[in-house]
Amino acid sequence: MIVNRNILTLDEFTIQQLREFPKATGELSSLLRDIGLAAKRVNVEVNKAGLVDILGDYGTTNIQGEEVKKLDIYANNQFMGVLKHGISCAGIASEELDDIVIFDDDVSNNSKYICMFDPLDGSGNIDVNISIGTIFSIYRRVSELGKPATKEDFLQPGNKQVAAGYVIYGSSTMLVYATRRGVNGFTLDQSIGEFSLSHPNIQCPPSGKIYSVNHGNFFQYEEKVRSYINGCQKKDKHTGGPYTQRYIGSMVADVHRNLLKGGIFMYPGTTDKPNGKLRLLYECNPFAFIIEVAGGKATNGKQRILDVLPTELHQRTPFFVGSKDMMNELETYLNA
Ligand code: AHG
Ligand code: MN
Ligand code: MN
Repeated sequence: MIVNRNILTLDEFTIQQLREFPKATGELSSLLRDIGLAAKRVNVEVNKAGLVDILGDYGTTNIQGEEVKKLDIYANNQFMGVLKHGISCAGIASEELDDIVIFDDDVSNNSKYICMFDPLDGSGNIDVNISIGTIFSIYRRVSELGKPATKEDFLQPGNKQVAAGYVIYGSSTMLVYATRRGVNGFTLDQSIGEFSLSHPNIQCPPSGKIYSVNHGNFFQYEEKVRSYINGCQKKDKHTGGPYTQRYIGSMVADVHRNLLKGGIFMYPGTTDKPNGKLRLLYECNPFAFIIEVAGGKATNGKQRILDVLPTELHQRTPFFVGSKDMMNELETYLNA
């Protein structure tokens, strides 16, 4: 039998990377393996969502006042569980939890990483069979090793991320993660139950034809954002328009498509919500990191997202992310 050794699994890939860094401890690889395991468990439940009583609301609202879906809680518990039982994570913060959770045991207190995640992104789409995802972000602790992690470890700017990634539960299930060395995508091979390297060294095309924004909020956007959107809709030598508009309402799916095909995704502030909807720590920083490593850009309209110093765990921010040339063009409108 011929075994195809060209297709590496997630574990093989991270171990191969370790071989190039003899001083590395393997903690990051083990953290990614834990995340991959939780993703596989969540994937199983997402796939049978229509069959069992896991659809629908949990009956509570989360810290941010949004309806919590049952799968949100399931996914949150899976990710929190694997990281707690693993050996690489000192604590977590989640979009679904009011506060940070410090694991505070002998092993965890000696772990050098903390992890933040949005366990299910686009969860409003669960009931209607549309792609959803998980977003995660990994930082090295700034607090003293050997002691419990602290809030400070979680309030670091995005430029301190060691790795970030997402899982998309879609027509296939993929895990995409970035370190400073590159962005790689792994598709879940259901026959062996392993994420396998299908998209090595992902580069975001410098330009594309897609813009993604919630048009229903158009009249609530500031004038400069409205002008840019108008520019996307007509033949324009600056924007390269007209573009195609695509907006799923699951940021993971929208940004994943734009990462591969080229495009721009926007969630601007509105008159009702000046900071928009998306959370800096669980959604914007990880995607900003991934897109920048892939050659794109991300801003809040005034500043590079990765340089924003967070003050609160659940803070929100306007978010513009995508292909480099398209982002540069957007910035000429925003800075005018
Ligand atoms: P979540 O399900 O984690 O609350 O996030 C949903 C987010 C994001 O995925 C999506 O881009 C955005 O909400 C859609 O919001 P609007 O319906 O306001 O456009
Ligand atoms: Mn989300
Ligand atoms: Mn969510």
